[in-house]
Amino acid sequence: MSRYPSEEKPPVSDLSMLPPEFVWGVATSAYQIEGAVAADGRAPSIWDTFCRVPGAIDNADTGDAACDHYHRWAEDVALMSRLGVDAYRFSVAWPRVIPDGTGPVNARGLDFYDRLVDALLAAGIRPFVTLYHWDLPQALQERGGWPERATAEAFADYAAVVAGRLGDRVADWNTVNEPLCVAWIGHLEGRMAPGERDLARAVRASHHILLGHGLATRAIRAHAARPASVGIVLNLSPCEPGSDRPEDVAAAVRADGHTNRWWLDPLYGRGYPADMIATYGVEPPVRPGDLDTIATPTDFLGVNYYFRQVVVDDPDGPAPFARQIPVPGAVTTAMGWEAYPAGLERLLVSVAEEYRPGRLFITENGAAWPDRVTPVGTVDDSERTEYLEQHLAACAAAVARGVPLAGYFAWSLLDNFEWSYGYDKRFGLVHVDYETQARTVKASGHRYAALIRAHQQLSRAVAGPAPTASRPG
Ligand code: IFM
Repeated sequence: MSRYPSEEKPPVSDLSMLPPEFVWGVATSAYQIEGAVAADGRAPSIWDTFCRVPGAIDNADTGDAACDHYHRWAEDVALMSRLGVDAYRFSVAWPRVIPDGTGPVNARGLDFYDRLVDALLAAGIRPFVTLYHWDLPQALQERGGWPERATAEAFADYAAVVAGRLGDRVADWNTVNEPLCVAWIGHLEGRMAPGERDLARAVRASHHILLGHGLATRAIRAHAARPASVGIVLNLSPCEPGSDRPEDVAAAVRADGHTNRWWLDPLYGRGYPADMIATYGVEPPVRPGDLDTIATPTDFLGVNYYFRQVVVDDPDGPAPFARQIPVPGAVTTAMGWEAYPAGLERLLVSVAEEYRPGRLFITENGAAWPDRVTPVGTVDDSERTEYLEQHLAACAAAVARGVPLAGYFAWSLLDNFEWSYGYDKRFGLVHVDYETQARTVKASGHRYAALIRAHQQLSRAVAGPAPTASRPG
């Protein structure tokens, strides 16, 4: 029996709506899986530091060992081959490549990603590289971090180095993952590294991370040896008022501004939304030319979707003075997040209509549930399986409504270090036993593999037999 109300449940057979060239992927990030934090010249990142703050991370977990992917990457590439994915989205750790943030390049750090890219290509898996998934070199934090303009410039230099090394083989690039989390959760709410609670510094950080994205987009294109497809990854949510009260309706507009428009508007050439500058009471430190840099045209928009926000007015809370409330009867994951596939279709349609990105990818979507390996060695994660099916069906429904959706990356390939929640929250299609580092494909991973195969077969059937070479005369 489905846990989702039937009106929110597009039939899974609608996957035939997905285009034949649809990219099926899985995603991870460096600090969440690599471990080996002191190997081969890597220097600390802000997350290594934040993990040492008492009480910052559940169970005092750290990313020191994580999934030991730094040593087990070949096994993990083989796992992806078993799943049959077309693409793998992973991030490069800046403190492995330029340990001091600026200056000398650490060749051994780059070599790791070089080997990984070669192995992926040999396995027929397309690498989608993310340059910044939150692990700022600690040395740069000590020089002021993202609230400083110099960090955006350093990011562009780092992007040039990575593109120069991998850009002969990598075609697909994500500059920054979820700038919202960097600025708002890291500098305003203090729940993520670097753990600050300062609205003015958060607004400065938001501007510099967008500026860094624009500068890095240009640097990648200038330094990659093959044509680069470049985009940014935003975590977006549809925002709805918790009641018809005008205060709650206004709160939903602010939540939408804080979550969605603050990022999308400048990226698509509209500048920062005036209503949000008024809400924050802080101007971002925009210099002449910055808004053009931020709006440098991209090749795609990456969307990470996890939940919608139903909010009420919260005049005494932190900016944007809107508080999320629980939805009665909602399906909720182990994170306490509502699983709401209908929100994904709605979000994709509204972003496509409003901002007209040439192409979109779902660069992350997934859910944590309390998984267990059974005595016979299976993980029967029916909740995650259904979540996946429902959200893929929502993607197909969005495509049917004209959204140029080019691919979907499940979050995540592996259970991993879930930031301030530590290791208890498991998002993987593959279970990781952190004692032994044994990997076990969950039922959801098997289901994902089956959906990929089914879609590929369908696409081949629609395309018809491959043309045979005709001989002249
Ligand atoms: O684990 C994170 C990821 O690093 C960024 N997007 C959301 C995921 C789940 O919280």
